Amino acid sequence: MENNKQLSYRNKIILAPMVKINTLPMRLLALDYGADIVYTEELIDYKLLNCHRKVNDTLNSVDFIDKSDGTVVFRTCPREKPFVVLQIGTNDPSRAAMVAKLVEYDVAGIDINMGCPKGFSLKGGMGAALLNQSDKACAILSAVISTVSIPVTCKIRILRDINETVSLCKKLAATGIAAIGIHGRRIHERPIHENRNNVIKAVSEALEIPVIANGGSKDIKVYEDIEKFKIVTGCSSVMIARSAEKNCSIFKRDGKLEVPAVIRDYLHHAINYDSVAANTKYCVQNMMGNVHETELGRTFLETSTLQEICDLWQLGDYCREKQKKMNMLRFEERDLACNDQKRIKPNPVDETQDDINSLKCMYIRSLYPMPEDLPKTKLLNWAKTHRKPLPKYHTEQFEKLFKSIVTFDNKKYSSLFWEKNKRCAEQGSAIVCLYFLNVYDMEYLKINGILG
Ligand code: FNR
Repeated sequence: MENNKQLSYRNKIILAPMVKINTLPMRLLALDYGADIVYTEELIDYKLLNCHRKVNDTLNSVDFIDKSDGTVVFRTCPREKPFVVLQIGTNDPSRAAMVAKLVEYDVAGIDINMGCPKGFSLKGGMGAALLNQSDKACAILSAVISTVSIPVTCKIRILRDINETVSLCKKLAATGIAAIGIHGRRIHERPIHENRNNVIKAVSEALEIPVIANGGSKDIKVYEDIEKFKIVTGCSSVMIARSAEKNCSIFKRDGKLEVPAVIRDYLHHAINYDSVAANTKYCVQNMMGNVHETELGRTFLETSTLQEICDLWQLGDYCREKQKKMNMLRFEERDLACNDQKRIKPNPVDETQDDINSLKCMYIRSLYPMPEDLPKTKLLNWAKTHRKPLPKYHTEQFEKLFKSIVTFDNKKYSSLFWEKNKRCAEQGSAIVCLYFLNVYDMEYLKINGILG
């Protein structure tokens, strides 16, 4: 019996999970080009359980934010909700179930990774390690299935023996999963090894639930190859990773686009969803192939912000405009929250103190991709270079908002903008100090939307 409550896995062409590649922009791009279902990258259970869920009104997204460092671990949006499957890396039924519960209403399905051959997965009893512990694998699936009302699947690699593989799949299917993804390589095999399509076919013939064939990218160069892969594996659906990583328009029925056009489409989504520059760069680099061989590639390697990347594809102005608008919205949102709080309690930091050099500056994490770019680090290095005593920070908390004053060279600096945690508040005060030290100029603050 199929445990498929909403999403159907029959006759589907799917973007396979890829770490660092399958963040929101790539998933949306795959949907634009015709993919029916998109998997997230593998997200480790511990990491997600340390997140809080936040509706992001500025981006119209739902964000799962790491409570320790404020980074976005998983960002999704209404458009992809009916088609997105979140893949969990786990070795524990109750943790897997808790993660599934956490994201249940934001995604269309849950997948358990049972195929990752990387050392950290195997050592942690996750990914392909579960293939040798079928009872544990089934316990994880059963726990998740009984906890959520959306379909649950798993993605495996094949075992050494074809019959053992079929038996394992039958056992996994008996838990009530909605479908199973099979990468036709053994645990220690690499992409150069042949994908054993006959094993996938044997599983497909033995199971009633949809089997999703995977591992065919080497032979998937054009859309028609997807159909061929489906036929040789006898599968209901196909899941594509590397071919889509290089050129996501492989999902287009009417033929692939040239890579530069795909990069531009990708960058649009990256801009719209305020993607982290480092992740965007990684994905674009994978699309470009050998970047060292071209002038554009070498210039690209020098980029470090989203704006710089976008400039190379004539999207710099769009990026700047969009970032400015997003930052204005963020300012307004935070100001509103701040004003609400101020009505309840008096303001502990006296903003009228005239010995404090202040400016309304917001700390935007994505503007500082390298650790040495962070305002606090920049200020520290400035102090060392100029042989000044090191800056000292004092932070006031007010309900859930924070404001910091940095004392440097006998002067005080603070941002009038209330931040959501102490770390951001300190960075904010460092920005103001760096402005008064002429390290940042007004133009820089304005262009980047730092100034409120
Ligand atoms: C992967 N793969 C993978 N698999 C998975 O279950 N979870 C993951 O997070 C990842 N991450 C990942 C990253 C990158 C960069 C690559 C290339 C691959 C494996 C992937 O989903 C797929 O099983 C294999 O790549 C084989 O399919 P293709 O590439 O032949 O279509």
